Amino acid sequence: MNRDLRKTVIAGNWKMNMLASDVETFASGLTSLISGFKSWCDVVICTPFVNLPAAAEAFKGSDVGVGAQNMSQFESGAYTGEVSTAQLSDVGTEYVIIGHSERRQYFGETDKSVNEKLVACLKSPLVPIVCVGETLSERETGITFDLVAMQVKAALFSVSASDMRRTIIAYEPVWAIGTGKTATPEDAQEVCKAIRKVIEGLYDKATADAVTIQYGGSMNDKNAKELLAQPDIDGGLIGGASLKPDSFAVIVNAANQ
Ligand code: PGA
Repeated sequence: MNRDLRKTVIAGNWKMNMLASDVETFASGLTSLISGFKSWCDVVICTPFVNLPAAAEAFKGSDVGVGAQNMSQFESGAYTGEVSTAQLSDVGTEYVIIGHSERRQYFGETDKSVNEKLVACLKSPLVPIVCVGETLSERETGITFDLVAMQVKAALFSVSASDMRRTIIAYEPVWAIGTGKTATPEDAQEVCKAIRKVIEGLYDKATADAVTIQYGGSMNDKNAKELLAQPDIDGGLIGGASLKPDSFAVIVNAANQ
């Protein structure tokens, strides 16, 4: 983290877990455990679409932001099953995850659709969290850096420098997601630093320095402190450990260093 240059953002990704009726208990548990967090980080909970209104209500006045896990690249119209940025904002959503590896792996999202979604998102007030990361076989083949650089460049195609500054990148090695295997702080730092270099190449150093780059993949209450101590890791995107207020609060508090 480097709080002088950029924001630290701790975001929970509930994936397809939790009911709307669970949100209020979670919110009151979490907010009681993270007092004062606004002075060291931003906190976001990304819920399933149907829980967003309940989450916006439950977190009202708490400074915890509410995020969605996906969005449509289209503005409105005949796109059955899709949800637009305007519809998300309308129910109090402030952030949206774009291109999570589970969307790429199971729902056919591509670098192209990720770019289209990012461009659409940046026309709205929502803050995008764009996910990139290599699979185990890609890591073993030694193409992690090239692959991640390509994903970053493809996602950012035609994005302006000022829009870049409000875009969050999440580096999530696919082999570390939900597996209990975390990248070592050094490995995660190395890739996050490389991502910042790619952004510098596309824009300039000041823009690259201003971008929040999260790590995601089995971040938990035990390993968060060390990961967040790395200079280019500006927060986390947390799945499993975001489902309980206690473990998520430990991660939020670990960012206070
Ligand atoms: P995990 O998920 O923390 O359960 O590994 C992270 C993510 O997929 O965003």
